[in-house]
This record gives sequence, structure tokens and C-alpha cells, in this order.
Amino acid sequence: MSLIHAAKVAFESLVSEPHPPAPRLTGLESLPPARQVLPAGFLLGAATASHQVEGGNDNDWSEWEKGSFPDGAPHIKHRDVSGVACDSWNRFADDVALLWELGANAYRLSVEWSRLEPEEGAWNEAAADRYLEWMRMLRAHGIQPMVTLNHFTLPRWVAARGGWANERTVEWIAAFTRRVARKLGSEVDLWCTLNEPNVLMAFGYMRGQWPPGVKDGKLGLRVLARQIHAHARMARELREHDTVDADGDGHATRVGIAHHVRIFQPATRWPLDRLMAGFTDRLFNQLLVDVHRTGRIQMSVPGMADIDEAVPDLKGSYDYLGLNYYSRDIVRADFRSPTLSRQYVAEGRPVNDLGWDLYPEGLYQVLKRHGRVGLPIYVTENGMADGKGERRPGFLREHFEALLRATREGVDVRGYFHWSLMDNFEWSEGFESRFGLFRTDYGSPEKRRVPTPAVATFQELARGLGLSPQVRTDAT
Ligand code: NOJ
Repeated sequence: MSLIHAAKVAFESLVSEPHPPAPRLTGLESLPPARQVLPAGFLLGAATASHQVEGGNDNDWSEWEKGSFPDGAPHIKHRDVSGVACDSWNRFADDVALLWELGANAYRLSVEWSRLEPEEGAWNEAAADRYLEWMRMLRAHGIQPMVTLNHFTLPRWVAARGGWANERTVEWIAAFTRRVARKLGSEVDLWCTLNEPNVLMAFGYMRGQWPPGVKDGKLGLRVLARQIHAHARMARELREHDTVDADGDGHATRVGIAHHVRIFQPATRWPLDRLMAGFTDRLFNQLLVDVHRTGRIQMSVPGMADIDEAVPDLKGSYDYLGLNYYSRDIVRADFRSPTLSRQYVAEGRPVNDLGWDLYPEGLYQVLKRHGRVGLPIYVTENGMADGKGERRPGFLREHFEALLRATREGVDVRGYFHWSLMDNFEWSEGFESRFGLFRTDYGSPEKRRVPTPAVATFQELARGLGLSPQVRTDAT
């Protein structure tokens, strides 16, 4: 069975392009203004995640940050630790002021499981009250919250029992979701269950660069499947326990996932390069989309996984598709590599500070491709590491234009969230990589947020949508 399936995948990869061919983005000047192209109620916002901005978290990541790899290299660049981060836990009003200044009408943020449930079954009501207060504050400023329930980090008690390798994690995170839905449901309609399950699989369980530092392809795929099970359970909990329609639009809950999608382009037309690009695409990009349609997890990777299981509540579990889009990889078959391929950036390409290909056409391509799924789409993340902040305005404009073009061609895009509101703790890259629309002055006691040139670009986009950015005053 698995061999036949693998052969079928291989054959399909050979005969099909890994992604639809797309015209280059030219003639952008001919686009009509955003307001005429985008649907009413389009969400324009920014995104962050609890561990990256809040500060003071105590979870599997804060533990990991203290350690080193066997060769002595620190887990985190420059031995940074998240520590106080942007101190958003104590300065949330400052963050709301930034969103106001931008003219944003939405904010994607996450709640921290380890804070709310520091021990199994224990519940930190004071922390939950603070999150509720934040949601009210956002709404009072005309900003719709999109809440992510899990953005990579696990409470230590979950990690100590094996984290995603333990099937009980599905029940634990479902119970956590139930409590959050009951607590915040009156203010939140837009939910994101998990952030980038495929990236967590790759970095945490295959490359061993993130906690739990495992390099085990089989386990990685198992963990991906487990996160899909968790998503389905979480979606059910949200629908059952958040029954309040906070904004009166007829939907008490809209549930999705933030799925990291990349362009995998074969290095040459050589069949093996095409095969490996297609294979990587299916596993990394397509699988998480298919599960919504089929209600099954189907993974067949010779020697690593032969999973075909129906999952209760999975079919139809997305109300929207959340796409995190950043970059493109060129794929070359390489049978000496454990993943059987090598991925790299083509020579001479413009890259961000982390060496990622800057490829706005890719956003157009992923939107066109995923538009066929038939679900509304939110771009739940898109951004670039740019320490000087000089190239972000162009990046933002070009990516937004790609979104407008896809929308004009019929793709149902409902929102765009820029990563990130302000510079923050960029996982194993520490604080050096700066993704913020606002530059975080980590040296200042108040973690001052200073506008980068992209703030003006964002404000232009906001005005184009009929939103009103607020003028900064010293009080904010
Ligand atoms: C995706 C992740 O969700 C986010 O946490 C990260 O900081 C950005 N990509 C940039 O790498």
C-alpha cells in the first residue's frame, strides 16, 4: 500500500508543476485602489506571539534558551534569552497605541498556555483577566483580535511529559482551549488554533534546532499528525464553548490555522529535482490544506511514515485558511542529504537579513493556488528581517500589491497581518533579527517602540482602505 502510494506521489510530482505558473507582477500601476478591490471589512493588522513579546514567560523555550548544542554552540544566537522581551505583559496599552498609530483594524496575538495553566489543571485567573482586559481594550479601539491558542511554546509540565510526542498533549491542549474559549469568547470571534505545525515539525523534531532538539524524521511526521489531531479537537472546543458573537456579524467563532507556505522551485527541469520539489511541496504545503477537505491525515514517506487515519471533527474544521508567507526555496535532489534534497536561495537574489529570498510574486502564487480551496484566506503573517528598516516599505508595498492582484483575480482574501508589530524575540535568532514596523529599543527601560519608515507605508495602505491612522503624540 505505502509503496503504491509513494509511486503515485512520485508520478504525480513528475508530471505536474509544484505550483501553478504565474505571470510576473507587472503593470501594478493599473490596479484600482485597494478599497475597490478588497471586500468590506477587510482586516489590516499586525501580528505578534506571546513568547516573543510579553516577557517573563516560563516555558519549554525559556528553558531551551539557557542551553547549548553538543558542539558548545548556544541554542540562541549571542546566547540571547527572551527575558523581558518587549515587556508587552506590562505595556500592552503601548502596543494598542502603536496599532492605532498604524490605522490597523486588527491584531493577531497569542495567549501563553504556560502562563494560564502553569501546572496541569491549575488556572491563573489573574492572567486570564488580563488577557480579557486586552481584548476589551482592542475592541474599544476598533481593533479586532485574532487569537492564536498556541504559538510554538509549551508549558514545562507538558514538555516534561514528552510534549507533542505524547498523545495526551491533544487532550491537554483541548482542555486549555475550552477554558480560553469560555474566558475570552465574549470578546473574540476570530481564532487560530496552532501556528505553523509544519515549521515546528521541521525545526523541533527533524533539524533539532528548537526544543525539544530532536532529529528524528519519523517522530517529526508523527508530531505533525498529532498537531492536526489537536487542531481538530481545539476547533470543536472553540465552537462549543465560544458561543458569543462579539461583533454581531452572525459568527461567534471563526476557526483556522496559521499555515506556513513556501514556494519550492525545482533547481532545473531535471526529473529528480522536480520530483523532490513536488514531494517537499506536498508534505510541507499541501498536506495541512488537504486535511480540511478529506478529514484524514494521509502521509506516505517511504521508510518514515505510512499514516492514513480518519480524524474526528477534522473535515471542514477550517472556517478560513491562514497563510504565513515569507519566501521561496530552490530545491535540488541530493541523495546524500537525509532529506534527499538541498534547499537554497538562487545566487544574486535580493534577500533579507536572514538570507531569505524576497519574492513578492510568491505571495501572489500562494494566494492563487490556495484560493481554489474555496475558503476565505487571511495572510496571517508576512514580513522581513530588516535591521535598518529601509527596505521594509518596498517589501510591504510589493507584497500588498501581490495580494491586491490575486484579489482582483477572484481570490477571497479577507485580511493581511504584517509580521511584526515591533521587533521581538526571533526564536533561535534571538534579538538581532528585526522584523518590526516599530523598532524596539531594548536598551531603554520602557522598551521604547520607535517607528521605522514602513509605518508611513502601512498608514498609506490603511488610508487606502478608509481607515484612519492616528497621529502620534508624546503621551503615546
Ligand atoms: C513565523 C513565526 O510564526 C514567527 O513566530 C516568526 O517570528 C516569524 N515567522 C519570522 O521568522
